[in-house]
Amino acid sequence: MQHQPKTVHYKLEAGKFQWELAQGKTIEAWGFNGQLPGPELRAKKGDTLAIEVTNNLDEATIIHWHGLRLPASMDGTGEVQRPIMPGETFEYRFTAPDAGTFWYHSHANETVQMERGMYGSLIIEDDNDPVFDNDRVFMIDDMKLTPDNRFVESKKLNHFKERHDGKEGNIALINGKEAPALEIHAGQTERWRFINAASARYFLLYMGGKPFSIIGTDGGLLETAQTVTEALITPGERLDIAMGGFEAAETFALETLPYNRMTFLKSKRKTYATVKVLESKPSVAHLPVQLRTIEPLTTQDAAVNRKIKLSVGPSIKHGLDFKVNNTLHANDGPVVIGELQVWEVSNVSLMDHPFHLHGFFFQVLEENGKALAYRAWKDTYNLKPRTTIKIAWLPDNRPGKWMYHCHILEHHEAGMMANFEVIDGSKPYVPSLSEHHCH
Ligand code: C2O
Ligand code: CU
Repeated sequence: MQHQPKTVHYKLEAGKFQWELAQGKTIEAWGFNGQLPGPELRAKKGDTLAIEVTNNLDEATIIHWHGLRLPASMDGTGEVQRPIMPGETFEYRFTAPDAGTFWYHSHANETVQMERGMYGSLIIEDDNDPVFDNDRVFMIDDMKLTPDNRFVESKKLNHFKERHDGKEGNIALINGKEAPALEIHAGQTERWRFINAASARYFLLYMGGKPFSIIGTDGGLLETAQTVTEALITPGERLDIAMGGFEAAETFALETLPYNRMTFLKSKRKTYATVKVLESKPSVAHLPVQLRTIEPLTTQDAAVNRKIKLSVGPSIKHGLDFKVNNTLHANDGPVVIGELQVWEVSNVSLMDHPFHLHGFFFQVLEENGKALAYRAWKDTYNLKPRTTIKIAWLPDNRPGKWMYHCHILEHHEAGMMANFEVIDGSKPYVPSLSEHHCH
């Protein structure tokens, strides 16, 4: 039966509220509808979302819909809309063309607003999705708090180290809670959707060595499930897994293993939650061998039509500069609707950067000359130091201003980003001056 597209209405109210991370541990959060993360929004592929955002903060905000292939005017950046001022309401309206795990987050003063909790999930379902016994979302985050549970004044912290590493917190959170106890029934298989909403922390998912199957990533399902015992989820990325096959009464930790992204701060193993397996229950889950097909956009040897260089260098003014093509807050050239883009993105710095493209999915054709193990639709991809990837993506008919940037929020803010336009090739191109967001 074909799903009849409908319009799904949501209301999000951005504001400040008290939020309990753990018993007796309360913070002043900034977020949506008094909860952290904000409400889990759900719709079906093909539906139109009408989301009214009211800003009750004391400062302007803008909401970005990470991973959605929506019109440029709805992308939620300072390039395409006037910020939503305190007291104002703005309606975002767009159709969700793809099924998958997406999320929304503040795209204004992000290093403060996102750190305090301004994010939530947006799940797009499809009638053809594999069937599971349960479908759950886990938003990974961390917060840097003082011993009395206050946020550290970000200005004071904005020293060399934090600019270099990005802000990693001392409090590990999963769905806004510290060390929650999760439960799953023996005999059942659930879909667990992970979203890394942290400013800078890399999350190397590990469950005591138990194998799990990756079934999807940023742009929806993979072609076939990939069984692993650990999986890296960098800031901005999503990972859907099939979780199950456990024995009743076992318990294990859901943790992150250390991942060395070449920062000053040493990465440590950290427990995010404990999972307890309850008594056995019947299952309706069914995971087909072939989840879907992903047509390759082009071949690995396709000619590159744009080069992007991510670099970090000394700066007299800031100590360190984070650049795209040797420029802070760069403007890159336009791309033409319908012309396949083959971009070479290289990280010439000595630390990792998760590269994020707004509004479009890409395929990674190769990494350091080698094809990847499997094909996927991505909007965020981690570049290790001294790594070059070749990606392909197709600008469909959604002209306007877009951007790409490093999803470590402090790096983005420090300049590792570029604006560019998608244009109609039959009309003359008049570059529009974009306001720079300098800090
Ligand atoms: Cu989730 Cu501009 O990013
Ligand atoms: Cu970065």
